Amino acid sequence: PLPEPFRVPLPVPPVARPVGVDGSGAELYRVTQRVAEQEIIPGYRTPVLGYDGIFPGPTFETRRGRPVVVRHRNELPVPTVVHLHGGHTPAEHDGWPLDLVLPVGDTSDWTGHHGMVGDPVAGEREHRYPNDQRAATLWYHDHRMDFTAPAVYRGLAGFHLVRDDAEDALPLPRGDRELPLMICDRAFAADGSFAYPGLDQGMRSVPGVEDAWMEGVLGDVVLVNGAPWPVHEVDAARYRLRLLNAANARRFRIALTVPGGPAVPLVQIGSDGGLLAAPVVHEAIEMAPGERFDVVVDFSALPVGTEVTMVNGLDAGRAGDVMRFRVVRTAADDSRVPDRLADVEPLVAPPGATLRTFDFARGPVGGHTGWTINGTSFDPNSSIADIPLGETEVWRFVTDVHHPVHLHLDAFQVLSRGGRPPSPYDGGWKDTVDIRPAEVVDVAVRFTEHAGRFVFHCHNLEHEDMAMMATIRTV
Ligand code: C2O
Ligand code: CU
Repeated sequence: PLPEPFRVPLPVPPVARPVGVDGSGAELYRVTQRVAEQEIIPGYRTPVLGYDGIFPGPTFETRRGRPVVVRHRNELPVPTVVHLHGGHTPAEHDGWPLDLVLPVGDTSDWTGHHGMVGDPVAGEREHRYPNDQRAATLWYHDHRMDFTAPAVYRGLAGFHLVRDDAEDALPLPRGDRELPLMICDRAFAADGSFAYPGLDQGMRSVPGVEDAWMEGVLGDVVLVNGAPWPVHEVDAARYRLRLLNAANARRFRIALTVPGGPAVPLVQIGSDGGLLAAPVVHEAIEMAPGERFDVVVDFSALPVGTEVTMVNGLDAGRAGDVMRFRVVRTAADDSRVPDRLADVEPLVAPPGATLRTFDFARGPVGGHTGWTINGTSFDPNSSIADIPLGETEVWRFVTDVHHPVHLHLDAFQVLSRGGRPPSPYDGGWKDTVDIRPAEVVDVAVRFTEHAGRFVFHCHNLEHEDMAMMATIRTV
């Protein structure tokens, strides 16, 4: 039985605590990936694959220019790979899909990818994150080749926030009035376990899902920070909400509704790659998997007792509700949203800049139907493009159906959509862009430092697992 919406309190993931400082002065963290039971649906125990045994995992609070080292230990029954989404990370720490961390003490044969480049290690791996990038909402999640979707679905995802002095100097809401919100959908079996329609429930060797879920797996329960349709009590004041679409495949059209009143505006202050130059006011925000929208909402004009419901305009059923805020008290508030937020360098492709076209479409993958880029499935052994560091290029994404395209290493800027100016949701530095069916989107791309091998892919995680990913090399 599904819970009634708006009863379970909104959880806020705990902040990760460093365990020390390494030789270089970087703060050192330890994370143990393990199976644990979590009460997600009241009265039921759901087995989760969790960073530190929790879903979402602990939130990393980091500062620009201050590196952190995270040592991940894998006590799960399957190999894992952790990737910091949005991180400007050297290749060997980025979470290459074949850099497996094998389960502690497991001596079984996980080398199903014969001849493919990767660096499997037993038990533990250390990731060094320079955090040498703008303040932004990043997130970390599993990225194992062929099995990202079931691993994330079962819980392997968490926030990694980068802060900096420039952002701290702004009078934005903070403390309890700043909330990271990880939004996703899940389906549950009768015993309360996650119901994922994977072909290989043991996540051992056969990637992909039952045919009916080819387009991507959807669930009928919306979770925010791991709780079903939660409720959160707020002051009549401004709040900063860091929205993350962590769903495998569901897109959301987020709006805040009040009974009998107009929608509460969502004042967007940031996107995937941090603050916008200036705020943008939206009535609703469309988010594809992987995207983040940083918004400020103002509850101060609402009477105490008002219930503000976050809805998803793209679903008429249960997935049409997301969560609720209940205004419970008046309170002082000296926060505001300045007219100017940050310097955002416009990325300009010079005349004669390299133009690369990538066509995202359904296609054959090893004798089955899968998802391809330029007609080929993910090949970790060969690069689809060698890209000179420091040069601005134009990348053109072409689609058959919806594909949210995500680039590792550096953020980009949207130049045009369907030959027209970018959409209201394309502003600022992006690392994931939602390409709608039969659409052409041009983006300006510039990779800076960190030569090596990286991937870009569709962030519909079923499409990713069914090979819609490509290897690039920065040189
Ligand atoms: Cu959020 Cu390559 O992934
Ligand atoms: Cu896709």
